[in-house]
Amino acid sequence: MTIYGEDANFSRNSGHVPVMCREVISSLNCKQKGVFVDCTFGAGGHSKAILESNTGNRVIALDKDTDAVESAKAGMSAYRERFSIVKAGFETLGDVLNSLKIRQVNGFIFDLGMSSMQVDSASRGFSFRFDSELDMRFDSRAGETAADFLNSADEKELSRVFSEYGEEPRSPALARAVIARRIKSPLKTTKDLIALIERIKGLKRNRIHPATKIFQALRIHVNDELESLKAGLSQAFRCLETGGRIAAISFHSLEDRIVKQYFAYLSKKCVCPPGQPICTCDKEEEALVFKLIKPTEEEVKDNPRSRSAKLRVIEKIKNKGGKDAA
Ligand SMILES: C[S@@+](CC[C@H](N)C(=O)[O-])C[C@H]1O[C@@H](n2cnc3c(N)ncnc32)[C@H](O)[C@@H]1O
Repeated sequence: MTIYGEDANFSRNSGHVPVMCREVISSLNCKQKGVFVDCTFGAGGHSKAILESNTGNRVIALDKDTDAVESAKAGMSAYRERFSIVKAGFETLGDVLNSLKIRQVNGFIFDLGMSSMQVDSASRGFSFRFDSELDMRFDSRAGETAADFLNSADEKELSRVFSEYGEEPRSPALARAVIARRIKSPLKTTKDLIALIERIKGLKRNRIHPATKIFQALRIHVNDELESLKAGLSQAFRCLETGGRIAAISFHSLEDRIVKQYFAYLSKKCVCPPGQPICTCDKEEEALVFKLIKPTEEEVKDNPRSRSAKLRVIEKIKNKGGKDAA
């Protein structure tokens, strides 16, 4: 784990527009002085807005992407003593906060998925707009790439990933085609994969590119996004102060379902099976769930990337030991 912060200096501009920024700031009560964790720094739009909301606010940011972390070291120098960034996955949030000796957090923001810098990069393999190596890792220094996976997984596993993470109806046929193709030569580039998908699914006929679902599936798999999200949310809730809040912005139904179900679980006083006469679950922590927030029409017009965004927010109202919010 690498921690950066104090000696930051800046160099980069970003093209990423933070989604539902105003709503995040008001949902997390950022006007009140506090300690906030930006679990997905990206280009730092949310971090900056939190720091600007109150000059006493402190932000600890995380990102897996080396480029994002390097740009933060440079770009956040104006906030040096109130801001620090750690190159780490939010699935390790508990360890990161422990190592920084942060005991009480007032708010967490998770802005899931890819940044504009990642999707607009011609070399990271996230987009089918460019011909590049099939990488797709948020942390391009760790783990298997999309190409590694496509060239080594068996047919059943390929089909499962395409179907579970891409909800792709042609998953079995696509998995078979990947196996047949790689016997001749390994799949290396986005162009190789797109050609294969177009052969099975046909050429683009509507607004959605035929490769969209498979690219989503591979990205989710390579970055273990859904398991990371579950781990990140539960560690955030554990580290949250009573009265503190978590805001999570998701961009597709798989991640939104995880956020929604976990928040619903947290909101329950008791999680014993229905009909059980005596409560044995000993659930102590509890949260209040706020109404789902979506971007305004105006925001979607200005920033089309926000169109599928859903913001869910909870407040911790009871901590371990049954301590109520003051
Ligand atoms: C949508 S962008 C965040 C944009 C940011 N809120 C802003 O305003 O610029 C998502 C970022 O989260 C990062 N990311 C995705 N999964 C992560 C994880 N498990 N841990 C840490 N960072 C992650 C990605 O590398 C990407 O930079």
